[in-house]
Amino acid sequence: MKSTFTTTLAITLTFLAPSLLGHMLMLDPCPRYYDKENCPKPPSGQKVDYEINGSIGDDEKIKRPKCHYTVPYDEPTVKMTAGGKYTVKFSKDGPNGHKGGHCQFAIGYNGEDFVAIHEVFSHCFYKDKGADADKYEDEGAEVFEYEVPIPKDVPSGRAIFAWGWTSAYGTREFYMNCSDIEIEGGTGTELKGKSMIYPNYGPDPEIAIPELADAGYEVGIEYYKNAKEITVKPEGGSTGGGSSEPGSKKSKEEVADNETSTTPDDEDEESDGGSDK
Ligand SMILES: *[C@@H]1O[C@H](CO)[C@@H](O)[C@H](O)[C@H]1NC(C)=O
Ligand SMILES: *[C@@H]1O[C@H](CO)[C@@H](O)[C@H](O)[C@H]1NC(C)=O
Ligand SMILES: *[C@@H]1O[C@H](CO)[C@@H](O)[C@H](O)[C@H]1NC(C)=O
Repeated sequence: MKSTFTTTLAITLTFLAPSLLGHMLMLDPCPRYYDKENCPKPPSGQKVDYEINGSIGDDEKIKRPKCHYTVPYDEPTVKMTAGGKYTVKFSKDGPNGHKGGHCQFAIGYNGEDFVAIHEVFSHCFYKDKGADADKYEDEGAEVFEYEVPIPKDVPSGRAIFAWGWTSAYGTREFYMNCSDIEIEGGTGTELKGKSMIYPNYGPDPEIAIPELADAGYEVGIEYYKNAKEITVKPEGGSTGGGSSEPGSKKSKEEVADNETSTTPDDEDEESDGGSDK
């Protein structure tokens, strides 16, 4: 009896813990359909996403499109000034920084192709305390703001600002959120640069990065550094082949039917449980 009870308790706790913590949550700029005060109402036909904590995919399946949803907010959530800096803020509420990892901030237009504009390698969300993974808490974080320089030559007008994260520890999955923004004072008509990368996004991902906590905090950086050059521009998408990537094709086909679904997804809960080991 006792052992059954203990087992039940252990299982219950395993499933409860992650939902109390969540992963890292971008608060500003507001991600699509997040239920926070600074976020607009979702566009018509779409709903607030109360399950926004889940990864967009792991090495078994693609769960959501890169931006979680393909329909942008009607109005931009914030304005960013080309040539200036924008302070991106993450929630301090129950963070789960998974011992760090590689972060990218990027700009795109079609929800598929993004040019990286700022990168934080190895210890994203933590102060750099060296290579010893034991010094970084899984259920915690120390750095909640990043100053992101906005290129001067980015086109003015509507754009998608994205944050991507490959965590240092836990289930191999990819985290990403997008915010619909407006750029002011930009001088260009298109944005050229290194493509954002999407490690561990779906089965057979183009790029797989193991747990940095095991393999070393430098692991995977070369993929970011060697990413192909692409061009993104408002209307009409991009050139440079970002969308010929296997992951991005699948994301459109496989997730299209469930884009507007906001029902709790049991599989997500399970996979989150796994990641919060
Ligand atoms: C998502 O994370 C937030 C903040 O940590 C938490 O309040 C919320 O309960 C989480 N939601 C789910 C569905 O896990
Ligand atoms: C953003 O997306 C990731 C997964 O893709 C998730 O873990 C995170 O909690 C999300 N929510 C916010 C508000 O950033
Ligand atoms: C949509 O969700 C249902 C269950 O909620 C699932 O059976 C189906 O495979 C999903 N479709 C896609 C395209 O992911």
